[in-house]
Amino acid sequence: MNNLILRPETPSDYRAVEQLTREAFWDVFKPGCDEHYLIHIFRSHPDFIPELSIVAEQDGAIVGHIAYSHAAIVQPNGDRWPMLTFGPLSVRPDCQRTGVGSALMHFTLPKAKEMGASAVALCGRPEYYPRFGFRPAGSYGITDADGQSPDYLMALELHEDALAGISGVFCESEAFFSLPPDEVARFDATFPPREKHVLPTQIF
Ligand SMILES: CC(C)(COP(=O)(O)OP(=O)(O)OC[C@H]1O[C@@H](n2cnc3c(N)ncnc32)[C@H](O)[C@@H]1OP(=O)(O)O)[C@@H](O)C(=O)NCCC(=O)NCCS
Repeated sequence: MNNLILRPETPSDYRAVEQLTREAFWDVFKPGCDEHYLIHIFRSHPDFIPELSIVAEQDGAIVGHIAYSHAAIVQPNGDRWPMLTFGPLSVRPDCQRTGVGSALMHFTLPKAKEMGASAVALCGRPEYYPRFGFRPAGSYGITDADGQSPDYLMALELHEDALAGISGVFCESEAFFSLPPDEVARFDATFPPREKHVLPTQIF
């Protein structure tokens, strides 16, 4: 992981980041992927946080990217407790397992804290994020909209006891759910054609 530069994404990076995101997520969680379309629409959404859209650059090429957005815990009384989430987190396939994803996490979590965030939650790989301090969200009384706390729902306090007394439903930006298949397909057609595969690993 020599010469890794971490810096904010700029408009001239947009297409390369979308390409990278497509490569990273293709066939991982479903045949093909939606994440490159998500990042494409996310940048103009009010929940997107441009200062925390960070690229990892190596030898002049973008090899990783992470995007953060505003999220909330909706408490039993209906109050929204603001927090952050992140995703997509993408590392170019040929650079995976070389520390790029970890570098992006270690760079951005303190930045999120500096910007005033108290906690971060996400739906992601349960085997990956505990190394950065994430714990099962259920241990904080945080659930999904169905009242469940699956192992892929995790949370991290950026300040000690930030989540003490906070429980409820984790709500991500509506952007995560604004992925109409025809729009995704139209956007995907602007990239080189690629075959989709059904794989047995396509679950969290
Ligand atoms: C998951 C991802 C972001 C991790 O970034 P990375 O730079 O490859 O990971 P790092 O080098 O920081 O850490 C490596 C360790 O993470 C774990 N890890 C990395 N990718 C993993 C994967 N796909 N499944 C399980 N564990 C994984 C392993 O423990 C690995 O250590 P090992 O090589 O000794 O087994 C990256 O592999 C990626 O972009 N994957 C495809 C898209 C994706 O799944 N994004 C995250 C969605 S929640």
